[in-house]
Amino acid sequence: MKITMIGSGYVGLVSGACFADFGHDVICVDKDAGKIEALLAGRIPIFEPGLEQLVANNVAAGRLSFTTDLASAVPEADAVFIAVGTPSRRGDGHADLRYVYAAAAEVAASLKGFTVIVDKSTVPVGTGDEVERIIRQTNPDAEFAVVSNPEFLREGAAIDDFKRPDRVVIGSDDPRALEVMRQIYRPLALGRSPIIEMSRRGAELTKYAGNAFLATKITFINEIADLCEKVGADVQDVARGIGLDNRIGSKFLHAGPGYGGSCFPKDTLALLKTAQDHEAPQRIVEAVVAVNDQRKRAMGRKVIHACGGDVRGKTIAVLGLTFKPNTDDMRDSPAIAIVQTLQDAGATIRAFDPEGMEQARKDLPDITYCGNAYETMEDADALVIVTEWDAFRALDLPRAKSLLRAPILVDLRNIYPRDMVEAAGLTYSAVGR
Ligand code: UDX
Repeated sequence: MKITMIGSGYVGLVSGACFADFGHDVICVDKDAGKIEALLAGRIPIFEPGLEQLVANNVAAGRLSFTTDLASAVPEADAVFIAVGTPSRRGDGHADLRYVYAAAAEVAASLKGFTVIVDKSTVPVGTGDEVERIIRQTNPDAEFAVVSNPEFLREGAAIDDFKRPDRVVIGSDDPRALEVMRQIYRPLALGRSPIIEMSRRGAELTKYAGNAFLATKITFINEIADLCEKVGADVQDVARGIGLDNRIGSKFLHAGPGYGGSCFPKDTLALLKTAQDHEAPQRIVEAVVAVNDQRKRAMGRKVIHACGGDVRGKTIAVLGLTFKPNTDDMRDSPAIAIVQTLQDAGATIRAFDPEGMEQARKDLPDITYCGNAYETMEDADALVIVTEWDAFRALDLPRAKSLLRAPILVDLRNIYPRDMVEAAGLTYSAVGR
């Protein structure tokens, strides 16, 4: 199949490279000439394990190419995927669809022969109808069908998620479009991944419902963690105890500082807006959003409490700034609110993150960025682990104690056993234990 991917950001680039790896001919398009120039030179603009090699292999095999020229990339394509950004619109939290609609109009003008237009971007229910209307209006003679095919990729594990998905969701009732989509995903079907077909609106809503459910699961265990602290239980025991029930499942039950990232915060808000517009309020998701927002600053207060209630004039060492490990992404990272809460209370911050410091400087300019974990700890009054990078899982705790001015470890990801930390002479606070 010939595939054109509009948008060479995170989703477009990973999906394009993986489709090429399946043997399809893929052209990735982006308006950003600097990005395309970098990709042509073999440089990957994002940090994602395995992506650089995957792109290089498929470029070398002649199956993957890059261009800024959308008009030339569309006429030959069997399917044109729209994988542009849908950020939260400033002011009202609705998904901002202007990039999707602009892409649709541009694609429409260059269509030749029957072409499947695939919404890969996360878009509210009904966006497919509008994309269809725009294409028909721009090019009344075009032969096309609009399909929804949401992505479920986790940053840091995106290639694996693409190649071994729990399921692929295809939303369309057009037989010709479905046939093209089945051919595109045949390698996954042969590998026995479930490929589910449904209505376009069903597929659009599936993406939001899935992310909202996962955000709910995390927020649920976070509140249970707070209760564990009050009643003297360990949230890791409780999570294991409930997670082994197949109806619940053990994933996404790690208590922590609250969810962040490019998807959950934005998609839960957009779902609430859609729900309000259709007068079907989602009260559970409303509560999840509010609870998670409050949790981030509450984690800052937890650190202050661990430091004896006052951090004015103190130095706090922070390990991990990105919203999760194996990414350089700082979007909605809990670290931002935690650091700001500590700074508001008069603390000075030293921090280290293996990949995220360049991005972090934009949100958090007034902290001292260090070269490694141990340098961060020098003369600090407490050590706080905010993101569970593997590099922080086996710290030399006696060395940490000797570097710190006060022997306090706040582990917001529950990666250390309490007795091990206490044996090294540090006081330990965690989440829900
Ligand atoms: C998510 C979805 O998993 C993915 O399917 C979707 O397409 C995009 O959004 P991502 O944002 O990359 O992916 O990260 P994910 O691993 O899901 O983590 C999201 C946030 O939840 C992180 O801040 C993480 O630290 C937090 N989290 C996750 C927890 O606090 N506890 C958990 O048990 C799991």
